[in-house]
Amino acid sequence: MKRVYVEDLSRHTGEQVEIAGWLYNQRGTAKLRFLLVRDGSGIVQCIAAKNELGEGLFALARSLTQETSLAIRGTVRADERAPGGYELLVTDLAKINDAHDYPITPKEHGTPFLLDRRHLWLRSKKQHAMLRIRHELIWAIRDFFNNRGFICFDTPMFTPNAVEGTTDLFAVNYFDTSAYLTQSGQLYAEAGAMAHGRVYTFGPTFRAEKSKTRRHLTEFWMVEPEVAFIDLDGLIELAEEMTVYIVERVLERRCNELADLERDTAPLEAIRRPFPRLHYDEAAEILVEYAKQHPDEGGVEFKHGDDFGGRHETILSDPYHRPVFITHFPAQIKPFYMKRDPDRPDCVLGFDMLGSEGAGELIGGSVREDDHDTLVQRIREHDLPMDAFDWYLDLRKYGSVPHGGFGLGLERTITWLSGRPHLREAIPFPRMLYRMRP
Ligand code: 4AD
Ligand code: MG
Repeated sequence: MKRVYVEDLSRHTGEQVEIAGWLYNQRGTAKLRFLLVRDGSGIVQCIAAKNELGEGLFALARSLTQETSLAIRGTVRADERAPGGYELLVTDLAKINDAHDYPITPKEHGTPFLLDRRHLWLRSKKQHAMLRIRHELIWAIRDFFNNRGFICFDTPMFTPNAVEGTTDLFAVNYFDTSAYLTQSGQLYAEAGAMAHGRVYTFGPTFRAEKSKTRRHLTEFWMVEPEVAFIDLDGLIELAEEMTVYIVERVLERRCNELADLERDTAPLEAIRRPFPRLHYDEAAEILVEYAKQHPDEGGVEFKHGDDFGGRHETILSDPYHRPVFITHFPAQIKPFYMKRDPDRPDCVLGFDMLGSEGAGELIGGSVREDDHDTLVQRIREHDLPMDAFDWYLDLRKYGSVPHGGFGLGLERTITWLSGRPHLREAIPFPRMLYRMRP
């Protein structure tokens, strides 16, 4: 008999097939049981009738508990009312292994309880949907860059120096010296861009940030394109095109998962280019004004020169039903490598992209300082160890060119697309300030 996956059942209407999976749930009567079986690719309702199966098999079906592994044979039938549109009329079944007292039951559990059992929670419908969206997003991002002539350029996890400031580095023993886990592949991607023109690095990055927010992981994935001969406008256009591409791709290919997550997709469907752009000065004015108008709301105080908090980002993006770019941040709150605006040397040629619906910062990027001596001065100003950057400075000695790139946080983007409140469900095993298990 043909073993098939639930996601392919539509191609087998009327046929006898076998599926193998786990019992998700069952309900019914003394004569008729509705078994919900998941096989990793989907969930199908299997109808077990006593008069069809006989006493023995029907009793077996009835005795199956949540997460018991099993194989079921039956006839595929299209039924609009069935979850997924197809069901299986059971003709035979066999238990593979028992599952007793599965801890995650259909009732509500608290998040700490579920996170402690993340290895099992992964099987639940919404979690399953989230990680399939993650998969689609990774695939879409790679397709986007691969189809545009970018080369995948993997950068190291062990690094001798900081990229994004020195306060949130994870130090590790590296034989008789110490190294840091990378905060970003960017500096190496710059070397890649000088060799290949257009590259992207995509992998895990690490930040020892002591922030316990819904937007921070200590280990998160980032895709970082880096392009030779590009300016700020070019970078913003690339970020915009990429964002529209990945949103459309997830809407097109993961509508079932979005439905499982009860995501209202209308706000995503409405996303069109171009996205609005705000100069930091304008953004600061809006925030100062907002704080004035809302004296009773805590945490919204703001003055020109400050970095944005989560609430500020939401205030700025709320009026727009699409992501928004904030450009030209004050240099003093941004990393050493960002090029200054020649017309406004107090500002950088950099941008953040804030997601719609209060998703916060999804992308950070900039044009890079390409002048050797200026870069040396910036490294000094930021109190960074010059010798760790000798190779990086070489990129400015041998045919330096204007270039730039950006980083998109994968988990924040998944969280935004999924419409979930917290990014911890966007990665199989989240690493956070107070969580490193399981
Ligand atoms: O703005 P960030 O720090 O930029 C960089 O690392 C640059 N080197 C990128 C580049 O230009 N190549 O981080 C980029 C993005 C943020 O916009 C955010 O989406 C995500 O990475 N991010 C985090 N995601 C989860 N947890 C954290 N602790 C994050 N920190 C940054
Ligand atoms: Mg940033």
